[in-house]
Amino acid sequence: MTAPIPLDILETDLDLIKERAGKLAIFIPETGAMDATARRVNRLSKGAVARLLESPRFEKLKPGEAIQLAFPQGMTAEAVIVVKLPRRPKVEQARKAGATLAKQMGKVALTALCGNLSRTDELALGLMMRAYEFSDHKTADQEATPGATLMVNSTDGLEEALSVQRAVAEGVFFTRDLTNEPANILTTTEFADRLKEMEALGLKVEVLEEKELEKLGMRTLLSVGQGSDSPSKVVVMQWSGGKSDDKPFALVGKGVVFDTGGISLKPAGGMEDMTMDMGGAGVVSGVMKTLALRKSKANVVGLVGLVENMPSGNATRPGDVVTSMKGDTVEIINTDAEGRLVLADVLWYAQERFEPVGCINLATLTGAIIIGLGHENAGVFSNSDPLSNAFLKAAEAEEEGAWRMPMGKAYDDQLKSRIADMKNVGGRPAGSITAAQFLQRFIKPETAWIHLDIAGVASVKSETAFAPKGATGWGVRALNRLIADKFEG
Ligand code: BES
Ligand code: MN
Ligand code: ZN
Repeated sequence: MTAPIPLDILETDLDLIKERAGKLAIFIPETGAMDATARRVNRLSKGAVARLLESPRFEKLKPGEAIQLAFPQGMTAEAVIVVKLPRRPKVEQARKAGATLAKQMGKVALTALCGNLSRTDELALGLMMRAYEFSDHKTADQEATPGATLMVNSTDGLEEALSVQRAVAEGVFFTRDLTNEPANILTTTEFADRLKEMEALGLKVEVLEEKELEKLGMRTLLSVGQGSDSPSKVVVMQWSGGKSDDKPFALVGKGVVFDTGGISLKPAGGMEDMTMDMGGAGVVSGVMKTLALRKSKANVVGLVGLVENMPSGNATRPGDVVTSMKGDTVEIINTDAEGRLVLADVLWYAQERFEPVGCINLATLTGAIIIGLGHENAGVFSNSDPLSNAFLKAAEAEEEGAWRMPMGKAYDDQLKSRIADMKNVGGRPAGSITAAQFLQRFIKPETAWIHLDIAGVASVKSETAFAPKGATGWGVRALNRLIADKFEG
């Protein structure tokens, strides 16, 4: 398990600056005005900071960006990181500055001389998120990640604000760790075990085993996992921070721990990326962790369908017809369109059991969404303008890309089957939309619902503003904010 880097708080003490080891950071607004800590560093370094501020290099920096002065004279620190940032930064500027610091500090302890800078908690979140590293499977001695110290003029309320941001970072890290984990380690059983451990945080966690899923009639879900030696499971996580008679909001995740495609086998090239096909379940798990850690005042239930899609003598064949828990029959044309089969049953179960006030599902559902939106935006499919607008607003505030996609009867018609109630694929045109239409067939008309296709954003091949390459944890912050806005405002 990857923990966020340790953060300390210190009250500003100009006398400490000279002998402080590691790297120091100072914050200078566009005007170039130095505060007391910056002036102190400038004086000790015999004017190095002032020379930087007069150079065109400083002018070219955007808010949140920085230049490092290496081995300045007059002090113990091995570098001074000069960050351009207004004293009253916007949230995104403060987070960006934090991410910049995470990259520039490397494996060296950092002291950020914040003075009266506002939003230091947001800066800390940016720093924690960008400092993530998935090194569980590197055998060479890992250098311990050193901590960061925030030196501030007033510590009032900072510890409390930091603990909320830490809850967010821990949720994001939980999602990233699960999503990065290879499939021989994160089996369905291991996944369920890790969720069960969250009971220690006050969540109620139930694991439904195959026998119970069989009894419930979840045949479309079970048909996906039946070729694997790992048992299929559904895990239900309940956080009850709201009024006891308020119906919960539901989050549902696709948890295919590995997707070979099944009998409709995928090509070998790049198949290793399908270890992240449980990314939707990973996000649901991360959000539940954050809600518990920050003791959210909302009622939220998170459900994940955990299966492995493998070919074997017992695997589902193309052409098989299976009956969903809802009772509708599905002709399975392509066993590689398995995510929707898993979600169909979990979505139906969630609505039958919890009558949620709204429901959002997340899934690495289609390659087609990557063709359409790349790695910048998740696809947003919804039957509710108010809910999807609220989500888009939360995603924008968290700088998590999301783009609404169309739905409609013409797309749904592509799912007509000759022999069953529907097919599981609608052909090549509009592949992401027909997948969403398939899911909507398992959504009751009264349920406000969003499907988030996160195939392009759950894991990426190049680093992003707040994550190294690999799993991003996309969606944890937006969903956490949506829940806070909707139920805790
Ligand atoms: N897990 C994949 C979707 C995916 C592709 C996620 C690439 C991340 C990166 C999904 O189960 C799948 O195989 N979808 C098929 C559907 C098709 C058979 C209709 C696809 O997108 O090719
Ligand atoms: Mn597939
Ligand atoms: Zn899949």
